[in-house]
Amino acid sequence: MIDMKTETWTAVAPVGLIRQKDPNNLEMPFDQLSGFITPSELFYIRSHFPVPQLDPAAFRLSIRGAVWNELSLSYADIRAMHSRTGVATLECAGNSRVFLAPPVPGAQWELGAVGNAEWTGVPLSALLEIAGLADDVCDIVLQGADRGVPKEEPKPPGVISYARSIPRARATEPDVLIAYQMNGRDLTPDHGYPLRAIVPGHYGMSSVKWLTDIVATTRPFQGYWQTSDYGYWDDSEGIPVRRPLAEMKLKSQIARPRVYERLQPSRPYTIFGVAWAGDTDVTEIWISLDGGASWVQGDFVDPIRRHAWRRWKYDWITPAQPGRYTLLARATGADQRTQPDGHNPNFGSYVINHPLPSRSLSPPFELARLQLLEGLPIPSWRAGVSTAVKICCEHLNVANRR
Ligand code: MTE
Repeated sequence: MIDMKTETWTAVAPVGLIRQKDPNNLEMPFDQLSGFITPSELFYIRSHFPVPQLDPAAFRLSIRGAVWNELSLSYADIRAMHSRTGVATLECAGNSRVFLAPPVPGAQWELGAVGNAEWTGVPLSALLEIAGLADDVCDIVLQGADRGVPKEEPKPPGVISYARSIPRARATEPDVLIAYQMNGRDLTPDHGYPLRAIVPGHYGMSSVKWLTDIVATTRPFQGYWQTSDYGYWDDSEGIPVRRPLAEMKLKSQIARPRVYERLQPSRPYTIFGVAWAGDTDVTEIWISLDGGASWVQGDFVDPIRRHAWRRWKYDWITPAQPGRYTLLARATGADQRTQPDGHNPNFGSYVINHPLPSRSLSPPFELARLQLLEGLPIPSWRAGVSTAVKICCEHLNVANRR
């Protein structure tokens, strides 16, 4: 196995890579993937507005709207209730955006806006049962304490809160949590302290952080984060209709080798990655070592666990011939569907779940020569790699200044 720590040009400190500032949006350096559970310090952070400072002593969670009993619960009330713990993968809907060509606006996430954590909290269903939902409730709106003006057009006329809804049927399933712990510790401010929703299987945008309001509605919620942002065009019935993103699509990612890693020829090398899905189980993983011309089956490291990712591996003997090799991974689900060949433009700059290329070099192929060979313009996914390098340097500089 190649000692990947000897590679220097993409070396990263064990902290997130900054994708946006004010507020900080960080992604995990994905080549550091190791355990089934993503350590909280490495777990990506996606926040649209500055982190609200919430005092747990004064904190209230309000449950209102079309309910029989409105509730106002303290943090202590929630902590005293019967809890449940579950593992769930969260992926930001814009993860891997840097791979889109031509480039699109938005945070240029590479592979690290995804993580798998253990969450503890009170089932949302328990709270809704105490509140008593009216018969005609269709959506449960989850609203956070953070406020601001969104960056993306079309902008609302003023300051808004972050709010998303989930359908009643999903909200009343026992695995949807009002969580207060992540990986056995109280949530950090960046991850939603004191309370956040966890909606397993959904893209991360449904797991509302700094949760203060749960509102039962009798009409489908049409808020900004449901329609303008985190929406897609559904054209399945002929006329395109804007719908909210919800379940994560089947996806696999290669963590190692990392993009443009240089490998020694004719050596054993374990290709390593993860695969997950929102509404099915991942049952097969296929690897291509030749840019998609042929596929071999990989092995799973983890058993099937609903809504948690599965690590996988493939033991490879690197080619004897020097050159550049494009590796791809493609998962299949229990529903027999597989990842699509390309990005569906109906999803705009979201849902990037086609097999993503990981290119490896076998010496004497050097990066500069490869760039010459591939010519200009620089594909967006490679631009992302150079961004990563720049950002790593930024980290190092910051560390050096301290
Ligand atoms: N909740 C609030 N209140 N504000 C936000 O900006 N971002 C959402 C979701 N919940 C967000 C939020 C998005 S887009 C994602 S991907 C996840 O939180 C990220 O959760 P994390 O930062 O804990 O990884």
